[in-house]
Amino acid sequence: MNSLRHLESLQKLPLPTVRALLDRAVDFRRVPRQPLLEGKKLGLVFFNPSLRTRVSFQAAMADLGGQAFALDVGGGLWKIEVEDGKVMDGDAAEHVKEAVKVLSRYVDALGVRAFAEGKDWATDRADPVLAAFLRHSDVPVVNMESGLYHPCQALADMRTIEDKLGAVKGKKVALVWAWHPKPLPLAVPQSFALAASRLGAELTIVAPEGYGLDPAVQTAVENNARASGGSERIVSDRAEGLAGAEVAYVKSWGSLDLYGRPAEEAKHRAGLRHWIFDEAAHRMTAGAIVMHCLPVRRNVVISDPVLDGPRSVVYDQAENRLHVQKAILEWMLAGERQGRP
Ligand code: CP
Repeated sequence: MNSLRHLESLQKLPLPTVRALLDRAVDFRRVPRQPLLEGKKLGLVFFNPSLRTRVSFQAAMADLGGQAFALDVGGGLWKIEVEDGKVMDGDAAEHVKEAVKVLSRYVDALGVRAFAEGKDWATDRADPVLAAFLRHSDVPVVNMESGLYHPCQALADMRTIEDKLGAVKGKKVALVWAWHPKPLPLAVPQSFALAASRLGAELTIVAPEGYGLDPAVQTAVENNARASGGSERIVSDRAEGLAGAEVAYVKSWGSLDLYGRPAEEAKHRAGLRHWIFDEAAHRMTAGAIVMHCLPVRRNVVISDPVLDGPRSVVYDQAENRLHVQKAILEWMLAGERQGRP
């Protein structure tokens, strides 16, 4: 089953494939309805809630002539156990092995969303649910956000920067942390940093002390920047980090230093509430476009005037999920037939 076109992380795809997907998304924006996946079926398995991912994948399959089924674990689906060898005398009625093997008989591809549990990073960084899907599936699997990565979001983000600024290469891009009442997952900032560095951005990660990325991801970001001719730095002074930025990618994420210790993390984060991306923060940039993956807490993460302002591109960014995912689905399901990369 090694020949299946899984999408776990953009980092695992060859750069020319990433480039081809970004270019192909523009075709799909120009001609949204193309019957390339007629008769194909996509099963979307959600362990966590979603608006954009759920609807954009369903809309993408409809536009390409196929069908998508959204399945909610613990809602419409049985609770699923992912641990191998587990004595299943708890809540879960079905093991992931049976669930995925059976779904593989019904659909042509699977999507899976399973966030980190937030208890132990060593466990979460292995992405146990996604890994189980990849292990047991007989059809291609697309990661719809795991503990480590959100590749569909990162591809839409790169598409958006190229749409607005012409290229990612050489652009001054700030990935800027923002305060949030909860310690949020790292998948979005990690995938964004990996993709931007791989495409040659001058990337600055602007975050308070203790809010670094996973060390292996951070090393990959640094290696990407070296290979792409871009640059990468980490700055904890917000004004310094935002100076000259052409892109401000605003995102909150939890501290790995205090992972699984929510009370301590909350105490630490309490002093960082001024890290809202407001007009004062935007003035620190060079008139940057403002990006956020959404959902966003208004006037907590980004202020109304910035989110509704002329430099906000969040709706175009969300729309690009639809276009890039069509490119991904074509690559997964029709790539060989279409002779595409
Ligand atoms: N950005 C994103 O993935 O949105 P949803 O969580 O609503 O799918």
